[in-house]
Amino acid sequence: MSVGGGVNGGVSAGVRIDVFTIFPDVVTGYCAASILGRAAQAGVLDVRVHDLRSGADDSRRSVDDSPFGGGAGMVLMAEPLFRCVEAVQDLPRPLYLLTPGGRRFDQGVAAELAGRGPGNGFSLLCGRYEGVDQRVEDHLVDGELSVGDYVLAGGELAALVVIEAVARLLPGVLGNEDSAIDDSFSEGLLEYPQYTRPAEYRGWAVPEVLRSGDHSAVARWRRTEALLRTAERRPDLLERLVSASALSASDVQTLAEHGYDVPSGAERSEPG
Ligand SMILES: C[S@@+](CC[C@H](N)C(=O)[O-])C[C@H]1O[C@@H](n2cnc3c(N)ncnc32)[C@H](O)[C@@H]1O
Repeated sequence: MSVGGGVNGGVSAGVRIDVFTIFPDVVTGYCAASILGRAAQAGVLDVRVHDLRSGADDSRRSVDDSPFGGGAGMVLMAEPLFRCVEAVQDLPRPLYLLTPGGRRFDQGVAAELAGRGPGNGFSLLCGRYEGVDQRVEDHLVDGELSVGDYVLAGGELAALVVIEAVARLLPGVLGNEDSAIDDSFSEGLLEYPQYTRPAEYRGWAVPEVLRSGDHSAVARWRRTEALLRTAERRPDLLERLVSASALSASDVQTLAEHGYDVPSGAERSEPG
């Protein structure tokens, strides 16, 4: 099952992402809408969804069984999963298992996957129930991804999180090429506040500087707001930038002016 027009005679023009799931319609439906649907139509993204039940060998199309050693719930069996995955020709690797125990998926991982470029896709395997037989993790997949420290009922939402975050970073997917650059996390900071019309709503006015037409003043205001918002809400992100000496001297000065103590030497050395 493919989404949109990215497939042409079996040859993918865009980044191919294969998804293995027991709920193919859920994944296909979401990927056909909005940004992902348009990316597929434009040939930038080529999502191929495979029903894990196609690997079953009984009339009930069973893919799960009770766990050895007892305990609650069911476990996805190794055999149908191996069969389904191994039946796919030219499967794009790495194949990642979605699991709460995997490497934490963040904007950096999204950029890494998007940066591999066309012809270098990847695949996602969605678990369900109590998870998958350990032999799948040990011998079928190449890595594991987690979308956060919480437990979902299945890997489908996690796979969609990965696909959408990666797709937004592919050239040509967002209408305005710049819009991903200023997004939260792309430079290690949270994004500055955004406003649109009306200029005043219920007495709450949009900051004057944003209506001044002075582009450098707007850029300075946005940088300051991004720094202060990050310092207040996500000090861990700021600490990371400090340890990597990734802040400019003026960033350090801005933070100091607003009462944030940044250790000396935190700023990057400017060229020249
Ligand atoms: C109910 S969960 C299984 C949780 C498992 N028993 C555990 O404690 O780690 C079922 C499936 O949902 C998916 N899943 C749940 N939470 C996830 C997360 N935070 N990140 C990625 N996948 C997740 C995985 O594919 C998992 O196999």
